[in-house]
Amino acid sequence: MKRILALVLIFYWIIAVTEAQVGNNLSGIRISKAGGRTSLSVDGKPFLILGGELGNSSASNANYLRPYWSLLKEMNLNTLLVPVYWELIQPEENRFDFSLVDTMILTARKYDIKLVFLWFGTWKNSMSCYAPLWMKTNPAVYTRTADTAGRSQELFSVFGKATLEADKKAFAALMKHIRLTDQREKTVLMVQVENEIGMLPLAREYSKKADSLYKAPIPAALKYLLELNQQNLIPEFYQKWEKQQFNTKGNWPSVFGDDVYTEEIFQAWHYASFAQEVALAGKKEYDLPMFVNAALPRPGKLPGQYPSAGPLPHLMDIWQAAAPAIDMLSPDFYNPDTRYWCDRYVRNNNTLFIPEIQFDASTAAKAFFVIGRYHAIGFSPFSIENNKPASVSLTRAYDILKQLSPVITANKWLHMDGFFLTKKEKEDASMMGDFKLRVVHYNTMSWASEAKDSVWSPSGGIVIQTAPDEFLIAGTGIVVEFENIDRNKVTNILEATEVSYQHGVRVSGRRMNGDEDHQGRHIRFPVGEWGIQHVKLYNSPARIE
Ligand code: DGJ
Repeated sequence: MKRILALVLIFYWIIAVTEAQVGNNLSGIRISKAGGRTSLSVDGKPFLILGGELGNSSASNANYLRPYWSLLKEMNLNTLLVPVYWELIQPEENRFDFSLVDTMILTARKYDIKLVFLWFGTWKNSMSCYAPLWMKTNPAVYTRTADTAGRSQELFSVFGKATLEADKKAFAALMKHIRLTDQREKTVLMVQVENEIGMLPLAREYSKKADSLYKAPIPAALKYLLELNQQNLIPEFYQKWEKQQFNTKGNWPSVFGDDVYTEEIFQAWHYASFAQEVALAGKKEYDLPMFVNAALPRPGKLPGQYPSAGPLPHLMDIWQAAAPAIDMLSPDFYNPDTRYWCDRYVRNNNTLFIPEIQFDASTAAKAFFVIGRYHAIGFSPFSIENNKPASVSLTRAYDILKQLSPVITANKWLHMDGFFLTKKEKEDASMMGDFKLRVVHYNTMSWASEAKDSVWSPSGGIVIQTAPDEFLIAGTGIVVEFENIDRNKVTNILEATEVSYQHGVRVSGRRMNGDEDHQGRHIRFPVGEWGIQHVKLYNSPARIE
């Protein structure tokens, strides 16, 4: 019996080794959309990323990071976004060192935390500071861009063939290493290609090569996209092209107009093509989902005044056409207008994933908003190990979202929405089946202790309609009222129960009636209180004869 068992084990071991050698590059990790619902799945099981991104240098030394892992686990994080630094994994042109990557994977497994790796490759926040030293010191081969005064900057040119080949080689080696070490465990879920690609301080490069390409006919693939997709282009892009009477012939200025926005489009096409080649080289080794992230511009700035030509909403058509191997275009939020930017990033069927968002007192409430409203597959405050005060509320929000994850990701609900409310935007609404939900900030209640304060605690929540007359409502600092869309009916709360989910099973707590639901008028979570309630509604005739 023991011999048979040993033979079986050897057999499986041989299969595993052979498979690794021939290179089965399928990861089993997928982003999919069905019936308008998005999900990230690992071997068919849905996974909602409750993440956090490390500060830039924190993963460069395993000893430095060691004390933080247990804190991150206590914050209810299930995923950590971790930089992989090109200069450290390829210290010499012909030598790779993945020891830091291995330590991250092994430690993450110990804490049962998944990883998203961030490839700090050719570009990091526009610049090329993470390129290996042997590249930086060889500008004749790895060409750089110039600033407005013609001075060379530490920013590699997108037209540098040697740079692209070096990046592809390093990224492919990284992905191969992840496959060989992690294909079974699947600790690594996704990879970000480069970091905040963006041209500065001009909208495009001005080298001889760049100039000649700018003055040459647009690439055939772009011409094809324009012709095929004219009616589906995002409005900003469509309107720009419309001004040129939808011309597809000639160079960039003749197709899009001779201005700085066209320069940005040109540069974006080349950045996206570069990212495509890097992503493809990596996916050939191991096909994990991949995304690129963008630094969002401040209002009123022109291309060149912000990191230009990155995966920005007005350039989505360009990025998606030139980089089909990139699965998502992702915004980094250091800008308060979450709603404005999320609205733009879910166009063109783009799946929303937020790899970075400023980690402050409002962040936790925003997690409910982006997951509930935009069905984001994940959320990740930046410098997650470094903000003790904000981590208190994030811990509560992630606890709730962790409990609700199976319901959210099963995608069997009828409607789901999220809310983020402040003193300025204190009210929101949502249509769900037969009902209109009015959602207001708790401080609009006359008795709220903060009601007259000049600053209100941010509030947020998620509402999931699980059956025509049933809802799960969760969050903090919100009040939810229900109204039947049929004016002949009046809707009231039949029962409201505080609930929690333990190992996916719903467990009832208090029956929430009396003061807790304002004697049946609404569902609420006061500021400072966090929770989940299950609510059942009933209708009665509106008129009493
Ligand atoms: C956005 C970048 O992507 C991060 O790596 C980091 O530099 C933050 N900005 C800093 O605010």
